Amino acid sequence: MQESQPSPAIRTGRPVISATGLYTPPDSITNEELVASFNAFVDRHNAANPEAEPLAYSSVEFIEKASGIKARHVMSKAPILDPDIMCPRLPERANDELSVMAEIGVAAARQALERAGREAKDVDAVLCAASNMQRAYPAMAIEIQQALGIEGFGFDMNVACSSATFGIQTAADYIRAGNAKSVLVVSPEITSGHLNWRDRDSHFIFGDVATAVLVEDAAIAPAQHWEILGTKLKTVFSNNIRNNFGFLNRAAPEGEGKADKLFVQEGRKVFKEVVPMVAQMILDEAARLGIDPESLRRLWLHQANAGMNRLIAHKVLGHEANEDESPTVLDTYGNTSSAGSIIAFHQHSDDLAAGDTGLICSFGAGYSAGTVFVRKMG
Ligand code: COA
Repeated sequence: MQESQPSPAIRTGRPVISATGLYTPPDSITNEELVASFNAFVDRHNAANPEAEPLAYSSVEFIEKASGIKARHVMSKAPILDPDIMCPRLPERANDELSVMAEIGVAAARQALERAGREAKDVDAVLCAASNMQRAYPAMAIEIQQALGIEGFGFDMNVACSSATFGIQTAADYIRAGNAKSVLVVSPEITSGHLNWRDRDSHFIFGDVATAVLVEDAAIAPAQHWEILGTKLKTVFSNNIRNNFGFLNRAAPEGEGKADKLFVQEGRKVFKEVVPMVAQMILDEAARLGIDPESLRRLWLHQANAGMNRLIAHKVLGHEANEDESPTVLDTYGNTSSAGSIIAFHQHSDDLAAGDTGLICSFGAGYSAGTVFVRKMG
């Protein structure tokens, strides 16, 4: 009988963010374009249904005041703006072609790898962390893994708007446990596909984008990186943001009930319930990590609503935050679900100095929330 080999010593790692990547679809829809299309739909609907309660117009002023959103990028502009269609039309691709979600995820991932000076073959795992997957299986992550030429493993995870931060903690835990040294967290968010563009209350909120975060062991990371000081996740069940689309209702009937197979929310309740929950979570986690919240150099908050971010930042920093302390990207990107806080981090972190501490924070459906405290190194 062969003697069993001693198991190799498990070397625990120290997780850092080596780099991030961003893919932005070239087309963008302004509030003016969106409202013109929505109101044309309202006119047609009301003319065709004279007996029914008339639908109300949307307005540019309301959208900007209620959300802070001025425009959003989309993958399929013309059909979304066509009052007879009002949803993206992305042509189905053959099984031997790269899927559209994988394509934009790969674009963001390549940028992260390039910025880290990392070769794909040196990555151990790919997590595709997004609020919706375009198919059930094979996992989007495995397709992204193959397209990049990565060995190891990949899987999909969905925690709605908090998918990216949940992905970062998962990747960080692999590194802490010594199970991986380099993990890509990719968040392709084609939110235009699950937005109800005919719903006045929410037709303006979402946009499309893809982000990537390369989480690595400090031992192999580039000299300039972001040390992950601590991660914390929280979920509390709520029906206030919900999407009932799923494999058990593929034959969803037209008409009644159809709208709940797309994004629906009680926006006011979300606002009121999520702001205190997230602010408290950030303060508790800062205390646990021994960080004075008022010393945080920058907050990269989830990008759903400018008013929510203003309130959360105020509670955390103890004063009204300016754009430098809590940058906004939702004005031009809209709510990009899990990608929002990562876009903010990607676009507004180069100017920080070594030793500066900041917070990436997401929140959304579930409810779910995630915090990632980081310190710039190198
Ligand atoms: N154009 C013009 N008026 C509109 C409108 C539109 N598109 N949509 C709603 N309104 C009107 C309503 O009819 C209502 O009018 P009333 O007071 O006379 O009845 C008024 O505006 C307020 O509507 P409400 O839906 O309560 O708006 P709000 O001020 O709460 O803003 C959200 C809506 C969605 C922007 C806001 O609640 C929000 O961002 N919440 C958080 C959302 C969030 O983070 N979701 C997470 C998703 S991942």
